[in-house]
This record gives sequence, C-alpha cells and structure tokens, in this order.
Amino acid sequence: MPATVIVGAQWGDEGKGKVVDLLAQESDIVARYQGGPNAGHTVIADGETWKFHHMPSGILAGKTCVLGAGVVLDPETFVAELDELERRGVSTAPVKVSGNAHLIMPWHVAIDQASERRLGKLRIGTTKRGIGPCYADKAARLGIRVQDLLDPKILRQKIEVALGEKNVWLERVYGMDPLVLEEVAERYERFAQRLRPYVADTSLLVDRALREDESVLFEGAQGALLDLDHGTYPFVTSSNPVAGAAATGLGIGPSRIDAVLGVAKAYVTRVGEGPFPTEIEGPDQQRVRELGQEFGTTTGRERRCGWLDLVALRYAVRVNGITSLALTKLDVLSAFAELPVCIRYRLESGEETTEFPAHQSDFHHCRPVYETLPGWEESIDSVDDFSDLPDAARGYVEFVERELEVEATLVGTGAERERVLARSGAAAAPSA
Ligand code: IMP
Repeated sequence: MPATVIVGAQWGDEGKGKVVDLLAQESDIVARYQGGPNAGHTVIADGETWKFHHMPSGILAGKTCVLGAGVVLDPETFVAELDELERRGVSTAPVKVSGNAHLIMPWHVAIDQASERRLGKLRIGTTKRGIGPCYADKAARLGIRVQDLLDPKILRQKIEVALGEKNVWLERVYGMDPLVLEEVAERYERFAQRLRPYVADTSLLVDRALREDESVLFEGAQGALLDLDHGTYPFVTSSNPVAGAAATGLGIGPSRIDAVLGVAKAYVTRVGEGPFPTEIEGPDQQRVRELGQEFGTTTGRERRCGWLDLVALRYAVRVNGITSLALTKLDVLSAFAELPVCIRYRLESGEETTEFPAHQSDFHHCRPVYETLPGWEESIDSVDDFSDLPDAARGYVEFVERELEVEATLVGTGAERERVLARSGAAAAPSA
C-alpha cells in the first residue's frame, strides 16, 4: 500500500516501533505526524539495540524520515539522537523536519513538572517532557516553531516575549526560579545551527512522493485511547494519535491514505493514571510485567498490565478506521494456562455493552465481562509460520479477528525484527 498509517490501538507502547522498523524495509519514507519525546521505542536490529524518542526507526534502513508539522520537537533530545546515530555510523542526511513543528522550550518542561506536582492525587501521570504545555501554547498561538530557528533575530525576540509571560507563571504560580533570557537564547541558538540543515517543506515532500507512487509509512505515537479528543480524557496526551491526524499532522489530504494498520498487544498496558477496566488483580499482573518487560522507555515507570480488552480495541478499530491489525507480544501469554479476554463491559446500571461507553462515568465504573480462552503453555519462540503455532495460540488470534471483524496480518512473537509472523494472503503483510 503506498500510504499506510501505523497507529497505536491501545494506550501506547503497543510495539509500533518494531512494526514500523519491519515495514520500513520496503518503504521509501517514514513520517511521524504527532507527539514528541513522550514517545519512546526500542528497536533491536542486527543484534544492536537502539532507543529513540523522536527519530522514526526507518532511519536505520536509510529511509527518508520526516517529522511533520503536528510533532512537538525537543531540540536537546533530537540533537542527542542525531549525534548518537552519526557516532554509530548511521547517516542522518535523510532526516527532514517541518518548519511548522513546534519547539518544546524549557518553560514547557518546568510547567509540566510543576503542574503535575501541584495536582497531587489528581495528576495525569504525564511523561513530564513538556508535551501538554507546548501544545497548549501552540493552540494559544504563543508557540515557537522550528522555522523560528532559521533567523537568530526572530528566535531571540520570540524567546524574550515568551519569557516575559512564562517567568511570571513560574515565579508566582509555581514558586520556581525564573529562566534567564541569555541562557535560554544561547542554548537554542546552538541547537539552531545544528538543526537548520534538516528543516524542509515536508508537506510538499510527502505529497510529491505519493504522487510518484512511492510508499510512505505514517507513524503514529502513543495510542487511540490517549487521543486528546477520543481517548480517556483527561488521562490522555495533548495531541491526536488517531489515524485521521496523519493527514493534518503532515499536511496531506485524507484521501491520500490507503490503509490503516492498528498495532495492539495481545494483552494491554497503560502508563500513568486513569481508569483501566481489565487491569489484572493479583500476582499475574507482575508476571505479565516481567515477562513482557513492561517498563517505560521514556520514564522507566512500571507499566500497568491488563488482559486483552476487545471493547476498547473495537473502539480503536472504529475511530482509526483500522483495516488490519498487528497483534504483538503473543509470546508473553505463553506462560498462562487460561487467558481471560474482555468481550463486554457491565455498566453500573447492570446493562452490558460491546461498545466503548461514550460518557466518562460509565467507563469509570464499568466492570469487564470475560470469556476465558485456553492457554498454550509452550514456547512459541522458534515458530516461524503462523500455521505452526499451537492450536490455542492460533485460536486466540482468530478469536480476536472474529470479534473485531478485522484480519490480524502480523503477529509478534518476540522482541527482534525477525520475530513477526506475516499471515499468508494478508493484505498489509511484508515479505519478511
Ligand atoms: P504526556 O503525553 O507526557 O502529556 O502524558 C499524558 C499521558 O499519556 C500519560 O498518561 C502518559 O503516561 C501517557 N503517554 C504519553 N506518551 C506515551 C507513550 O509513548 N506510551 C505510553 N503512554 C504515554
């Protein structure tokens, strides 16, 4: 498919990086359309481990890597990634950044941290990377953009104007030290010199590539349930991870998108606060966490672990228009004799539903109704064809497909790039 969106279908951390890395081998461009350094993915390629926050993993395959207008960019993190890639012998020449992307500034990080502290028990559990305050300034039209780095005079002026207001907030609202104009300006001028060669008209670049029938992967960060408009507000991120945002975030028309590959774990994890109906009670939660190595790439926090939630996944299929699924980390479930899968929610009224509740109170108070599927209790590490999986493992995947009416074209069975089973005849499957 020339234009495929890869989207998280749960609360993030579904293994999108690995799927993108795999599909990038046969694509021309990998483009991120939202989010920032709150994302983090680990890719293991040719025995080497890479950790990225900003960089699409397509960079390892030498593909053009785009950060679109909908992204928020922390120049310090980004420059560190560029330096690391070059130090390890990977060219960063194919990296292109939209001039319209907004810059995360030191006050965004300071305010994100202070605001979470202040909220106390009511905190969101953000990654404290300044994401919310940066998108808030963008919406308020007070943001500083990547293209402001191109002109030192404009950059300094914008920092000065912003600091005039932000320092009042930092001092009076949060009781913090003010930021010093000279220090911030000097730091960002240094980043500017390093970043200037990467700034490009990315909307034009992607549109031209699609007109020439090149294949483009649109890489979403976070997941549908963290979407600002469609997620579990207020426990969400401040951008739109859903597939539709690929168009706005990159500056192409929605009619250009051909396919949407939803990535979901064979179970569910969530980082940060907020309701989580299928969160596992008892020691099995810790077991899943350890087997799945469920610790955040960005913050190192323990991820909360739950059984697969098909009500939430059905919702993700709807709001993203998912045309096929990648079901990841199936191997983690090999340790369990029985596998509960949530097929309905029981609302406080006693009513049962297969559709995600439209109102927060219904969601906050719902209880999961499980169907228990048999486990397979044997290693699937060395299986390299879907048909060779144990019956119960195949049955698990096929159950998900039947319930959601979507084909699972890719099934992940381990951390390495090779450990993905592509279903034969599957539309979005690579020839891996
Ligand atoms: P923020 O994006 O840092 O503002 O955090 C808002 C919410 O989104 C918090 O619950 C975070 O834990 C969650 N979040 C943000 N990015 C990710 C991610 O990449 N994976 C999982 N959760 C995330």
